[in-house]
Amino acid sequence: MKKSMLALAAVSLLTAGGALAADPVAGKVKFETCLGCHGNSKWVNTYPTYLVPKLAGQHADYLVSSLKAYRDGSRTHATMQANAGALTDEDIADIAAFLSELKP
Ligand code: HEC
Repeated sequence: MKKSMLALAAVSLLTAGGALAADPVAGKVKFETCLGCHGNSKWVNTYPTYLVPKLAGQHADYLVSSLKAYRDGSRTHATMQANAGALTDEDIADIAAFLSELKP
């Protein structure tokens, strides 16, 4: 009896956690570390000066696949591989949800 109650509680915790539902509010916070390069309106990094792609308003699916490609190494870019390397699937989904809702 006790065991089945525990199992039930575990299941409802998992569902309530909604681990895979993308959360744009969490994404905004997670994107803060990326703002140094992706945060200004001219789409250039401050120093050294180089162009960074626009992310605001970008399609969520595209952002997810780009970040996963950096993370697994199939898209090579030293800086972005370092930045995407530590992200979980949930982080990526949240960040993509946040960015795709921004006005370009
Ligand atoms: C040190 C600067 C820097 C930081 C910090 C940085 N990025 Fe980037 N990012 C770049 C550059 C430069 C590119 C273009 C790389 C390329 O050509 O593949 C890029 C590309 C991207 C792309 C692909 C865009 C496209 O149009 O294909 C995504 C998505 C992205 N960054 C998201 C992030 C996220 C999320 C973070 C934080 C976790 C982050 N970046 C942190 C510099 C940075």
